[in-house]
Amino acid sequence: MEDRAKLLILYATQTGNAQDAAERVAREAERRGCPVNPLSMDEYDARSLPHEDTVIFVVSTTGQGDAPDSMKAFWRFLLQRNLSKHWLEGVRYALFGLGDSGYQKYNFVAKKLDKRLSDLGAMAIIEKGLGDDQHPSGYEAALDPWMSSLWSMLNQINHKFFPQGPDFVIPDMKLIDQPKVQITYHCNDEVDPQFLPNSDLKWIEMQIERARSMSPGKFNPNKNRPHCFLKMIKNQPLTRAGCEKDVRHFEFEFVSSAIEYEVGDILEVLPSQNPAAIDAFIERCNLDPDAFITVHTREIDNHLLHTCTTVKVPIKLKAFVALTMDVASASPRRYFFEVMSYFATAPHEKERLQYFASAEGRDDLYQYNQKERRTILEVLEDFPSVQIPFEWLVQLVPPLKTRAFSISSSPSAHPNQVHLTVNVVSWTTPFKRKRSGLCSMWLAHLDPEQSTHVPAWFQKGTLYPPPPSLPLILIGPGTGCAPFRGFVEERAIQSESGATAPVIFFFGCWNENNDFLYRDFWLSHSQNDGVLSKAKGGGFFVAFSRDQPQKVYVQHKMRENSRRIWNLLSEGAAIYVAGSSTKMPSDVLSAFEDIVSKEGGLPKESAVRWLRALEKAGKYHVEAWS
Ligand code: 2AM
Repeated sequence: MEDRAKLLILYATQTGNAQDAAERVAREAERRGCPVNPLSMDEYDARSLPHEDTVIFVVSTTGQGDAPDSMKAFWRFLLQRNLSKHWLEGVRYALFGLGDSGYQKYNFVAKKLDKRLSDLGAMAIIEKGLGDDQHPSGYEAALDPWMSSLWSMLNQINHKFFPQGPDFVIPDMKLIDQPKVQITYHCNDEVDPQFLPNSDLKWIEMQIERARSMSPGKFNPNKNRPHCFLKMIKNQPLTRAGCEKDVRHFEFEFVSSAIEYEVGDILEVLPSQNPAAIDAFIERCNLDPDAFITVHTREIDNHLLHTCTTVKVPIKLKAFVALTMDVASASPRRYFFEVMSYFATAPHEKERLQYFASAEGRDDLYQYNQKERRTILEVLEDFPSVQIPFEWLVQLVPPLKTRAFSISSSPSAHPNQVHLTVNVVSWTTPFKRKRSGLCSMWLAHLDPEQSTHVPAWFQKGTLYPPPPSLPLILIGPGTGCAPFRGFVEERAIQSESGATAPVIFFFGCWNENNDFLYRDFWLSHSQNDGVLSKAKGGGFFVAFSRDQPQKVYVQHKMRENSRRIWNLLSEGAAIYVAGSSTKMPSDVLSAFEDIVSKEGGLPKESAVRWLRALEKAGKYHVEAWS
């Protein structure tokens, strides 16, 4: 079917709604005979865009008019000045945005993308669709009419999109009959003995490699980088026992040969799932944990319907589930409820699931699902008559993903080791269920006395390691201090063999006595002629936000020290900001704007431009996480 017209769907999602919408568009296209696999923008190489025929974009706007994280690299690429206005000539597109008209920058990202695409020569085939969260039935109110125009326009443009005619639509049930994944069960004597499970590291490694090759883009953060195994050698609380927060300092050693990294790099860790959750899932779904399976992608007319899961060498079903399916992932998508409704045999369950999957049930589904962050397993347990075939589960349960952490050590200070500073996340839901972060909780429970192997990948972050001659202004409240512990360690070593430029660090936490992370470390480096000492032109300043009635944040401490900051900036300092608060980076930026304006005697607009130029020169780095 080489002459099938080419359709590509690219989505950018923050909470999953845009992915849901993109998958709905894909299903509707497929029902009309045009199979298409929606891709997240971070799984797509933007350089290929001029070679596409027709692209459907589904993008959401988050926060104060921001693009989802998964769109950032794509967007940065599109904004390059050297792309000509003919770059996308011949490429057709349609665009659907998801936003909330309660915010000032309503659907800002969709509007910006639309403008940029047409400035680059691409041709919109229909007017962009704008979904609104404020509408009683949500973005779907706009999605349905937008899709109808899309199908009829595509059909007018090229009848090959829908070879069976514009009115041909496969009934939904037929789609449900055809999962995109195919599973083959093997007898034990067909299985090569080297794949029989044992606790040997080599075997685990093979499983990891296999799992890694299964979910391109999602599971595997960087296909070109090999994984390594780490062994935890220290698990130390950095917060006071009994305090509301639990932040840990973890030290790891390389199990096999060490991988080189630099300060500011990122470590991606693949967590292990809770064995009880895996067993409960397997039992609830009536699966045979010991069966050997291979997993293939179903093809229609040589067209791959799904890029997700293939396993060519038999693997134990239980190992497959444990390594690739995140059974405790929260808030399954709406489509999960739709598929469940097909397999429900009890009428009242079927009715409720159909309601949840419908536009009218949206708010109730949100209450049931998102607010309480119910896990896949809990949802399945709430609807006992539903028995979903394994093929469908493989397709629907989100892949187990790696989690990224800023590295908090310098490899020069700790050869053969890597350190992390991790907030062990836990909270209670509105219905008083205890929840915790899969990876941080797993790490917190690892015992350095036992040699559990932690699969990990090293990545470049956005914080480039600064040369010793560059003065630094570091802002890192909470676990944002992690990369800067590495920076200071590295500078301390560099200063043993020559002069280094001054470093000033602003740290923030709740209380002096509860969560002053690495207190002794910072204080010792601020003394005498330490890296952070005033004697060296630097400094260490800490803001305790909850030790007094009014909040004191890093930006307050920055304003108090504006002269010192300006002096360093005048000497050519670079700024590094890291941390987890969504508002902190923008609050810190406005503090810098005020400081540059006040101390540099510039009007506010010039100070803004001055800082923008600093960013362009690669001297204002931000690494933020939520
Ligand atoms: P809070 O939680 O008491 O409001 C590390 O998380 C520290 O960053 C905490 O002391 C936290 O204070 C503080 N923080 C929260 N929001 C912030 C913001 N917008 N700017 C700077 N610091 C912030």
